[in-house]
Amino acid sequence: MSTETPGPAHAELLGVSKRFGGVQALSDIALRIDHGKIHALVGENGAGKSTLGKILAGVHRPDRGELTVNGSAVDYRSARDALADGITIIAQEPTLVPDRPVLENVFLGVESNVAGVVERRQLARRYRSLVDSTGIELPPQRLARTLRVADQQKVEILRAIARDARLIVMDEPTSALTRDEAERLFELVRRLRDNGTTIVYVSHFLAEVLELAETVTVLRDGRVVRTSLAARETPELLVTAMLGRTLGLAFPEKKPPPADAPVALSVRNLSRPPVVNDVSFEIRAGEIVGLAGLIGSGRTEVARAIFAADKSVSSAIDVAGKRLQARSPRDAIRHGVVMVPEDRKGQGLLMLRSIVENVTLPHLHDVSKGGVMEPQAETRRAGDLIKRLDVRTKSGRSRVDTLSGGNQQKVLFAKWMFRRPNVFIADEPTRGVDVGAKRAIYELICSLAAEGIGVLMISSEHEEVLGLAHRVLVMRNGRIVAEFTQETMSEDAVLHAAFATHQKLDEEVFDGDA
Ligand SMILES: Nc1ncnc2c1ncn2[C@@H]1O[C@H](COP(=O)(O)OP(=O)(O)O)[C@@H](O)[C@H]1O
Ligand SMILES: [Mg+2]
Repeated sequence: MSTETPGPAHAELLGVSKRFGGVQALSDIALRIDHGKIHALVGENGAGKSTLGKILAGVHRPDRGELTVNGSAVDYRSARDALADGITIIAQEPTLVPDRPVLENVFLGVESNVAGVVERRQLARRYRSLVDSTGIELPPQRLARTLRVADQQKVEILRAIARDARLIVMDEPTSALTRDEAERLFELVRRLRDNGTTIVYVSHFLAEVLELAETVTVLRDGRVVRTSLAARETPELLVTAMLGRTLGLAFPEKKPPPADAPVALSVRNLSRPPVVNDVSFEIRAGEIVGLAGLIGSGRTEVARAIFAADKSVSSAIDVAGKRLQARSPRDAIRHGVVMVPEDRKGQGLLMLRSIVENVTLPHLHDVSKGGVMEPQAETRRAGDLIKRLDVRTKSGRSRVDTLSGGNQQKVLFAKWMFRRPNVFIADEPTRGVDVGAKRAIYELICSLAAEGIGVLMISSEHEEVLGLAHRVLVMRNGRIVAEFTQETMSEDAVLHAAFATHQKLDEEVFDGDA
């Protein structure tokens, strides 16, 4: 097996470190990426894969260390700089211009904005040949924001290819794709590789990775555990190498509810094909149930279906013993089910309104008498909560967009604690908040449970789920595939269930897919 490529690597990182506030995302990374190969990056959520990809693509600058491309040291200040060297990234979060059509998004940054008729015809032709060569068919005039996430990702793929990149970082490109779409993408990736393009491929589908890539690097806690030939690895070996990630956080003491505590939430046969398949579970009053699993496993979709933010096909949901037939989040809230969504800015908070308004708006009928608002009562109750949750602000009248991420999250919690709910759903409650605010949010979640509220907590940080939850459910491909109690839960067990290392390779990636 000849793995030694003569001459310089396509890209090489030496001693690269990157810190975000209190988080050391990458430490002293040494990595060599060879020309014309598919090099996979694997690791648990938060291991640093996306950060590494973004450093290669000029999105982030290393704090320390050196990046060389084709043997010369480079110092990219932006994605544009990296692109000039033929490096681009298909990011985990699509970065399209929402109000522009597909065609323009594909050629964005390559072509001038004011295209004449001739140029436009030329673009249309180039688009056609891209579609032909990739097999990715999308209506060129559709506005990007009207596309589902999987299609947005396809636009990103077309764009990377249109840019003629020689090194493409693909960050979890198949997490939103169907089986057919993913298989077409693999073909495309192989074809690109055969034409000499270097691919850095980030994925948590380990069987997929081992089939595609020549080389695999395992990251853990921002460090390289090892780089090896894909042929020498198995999913089991990879997962074992990923284990042991530590957030270094202390969690509040666990106080599970008594065994005879009433059921706060009962979910039976919840389905929303293809993303949620026949999910059933219960949460007792005062119990914290953690929903673990990889990105795209269906956790958020379960939460959104319970909260009636999305329609489920079939289900029986009871809240505190009463059937919930919510047609909208408003119905769910009335029945005492509340949710702090994953996307605070998009779904949770009115960024330009004040803290007090954000806390009280969904409960106006509570604080108004005969339809007339009572600003004093409103302010007082909201003020009490803001104090209790320790939101760091000068005044309750401050706009929410002036707060840090952690404090915004506290405002969201306050909004839903304003009227005591039966069930509290928190989806990635600590994403993007600093360590101090994380700890405060953990304490909040525990205090909700201590008050007898049933808590459903979703987090991609498995250590966080294990540290807080009284019981852990693991999802994969839209199903609950494992349940762990305090006695049986461990990071090892959760991770192996999430990654399905016990399954046969060809089943692993796509079982349950429509
Ligand atoms: N822009 C950012 N601001 C703050 N923290 C970040 C940012 N990007 C990543 N992180 C943190 O850095 C660590 C590594 O993240 P990431 O590279 O996204 O991991 P992965 O892609 O392996 O899941 C995580 O703890 C994450 O929360
Ligand atoms: Mg990532």
